[in-house]
Amino acid sequence: MTEAKIIDGNLFAGQLRDSLAESVRELRDYHHVTPGLAVVLVGDDPASQVYVRNKNKRATEIGMNSFEHFMPEDTTEKQLLNLIEGLNDDPSVHGILVQLPLPNHINPQKVIEAIDPAKDVDGFHPFNAGRLATGGAGLVPCTPLGSLMLLKDHLVNLSGMKAIIVGRSNIVGKPMAQLLLRENCTVTIAHSQTRDLPGECRQADIVVAAVGRPEMIRGEWIKPGATVIDVGINRIITPDGKKKLVGDVRFEEAVKVAGAITPVPGGVGPMTIAVLLRNTLEAACRLHRLNLPECLTQF
Ligand code: GUN
Repeated sequence: MTEAKIIDGNLFAGQLRDSLAESVRELRDYHHVTPGLAVVLVGDDPASQVYVRNKNKRATEIGMNSFEHFMPEDTTEKQLLNLIEGLNDDPSVHGILVQLPLPNHINPQKVIEAIDPAKDVDGFHPFNAGRLATGGAGLVPCTPLGSLMLLKDHLVNLSGMKAIIVGRSNIVGKPMAQLLLRENCTVTIAHSQTRDLPGECRQADIVVAAVGRPEMIRGEWIKPGATVIDVGINRIITPDGKKKLVGDVRFEEAVKVAGAITPVPGGVGPMTIAVLLRNTLEAACRLHRLNLPECLTQF
């Protein structure tokens, strides 16, 4: 049997960043607007620090302004809310991202709801979640939108396909379901209480794995020829003591059955940051009441 096509997220994300860079240049040259992204990190989680640095590096690479706000672990909720208020009012900031998870003494929902929905480039604010669910214009969460871009690039038309999303988080599972519904898929959201998960997966033309459990989804759960999007990023130690990054899907099994599959790393991961930049450009255009460039209107 032939192996699945490997969907190259690095390649697609690079092309997206190139077209965004072009639009950022035009925005600056013709409208004197430079999109600005503010990223806030509370505490010193090493993985989060890497993510935040990457976000800022990628933003400046394509000509955007990037503002980093590192706050100590003992920052109070009030202090964080004050910072967000200032960013909401700052005309040079078009996108605000507060890196999650936050320390336990801070209520993440309160923080998310304090961000101006027009600058909520994560798409987590209930206003944007509601817009996604009801069909209006709004900012869409980055990982689901990046996953959809890869799916549409490979499949072109998703209409009538059966899709299963394993995982029901506000960040990935639920918005992914809304996006696939918008593409006329028949959508199942599976979770820890789902009966016969392997059987449910086997029905699906599209499997989106977003559970955060290393290699949980096995090759025999995949319908032959299905498209598999692996959102998981799990750091594991292999039996011979080596550190390894794996997804939520057992790749070496699934690649023998699927029609196409995203690898980990190099699949969905690079798309998340590219879409964050996309959303920042969209926010900047909308805040300045400018027409959206073509690279933003395709999705
Ligand atoms: N932590 C892990 N993923 C994300 C994300 O997409 N956005 C934010 N704000 N924090 C995260």
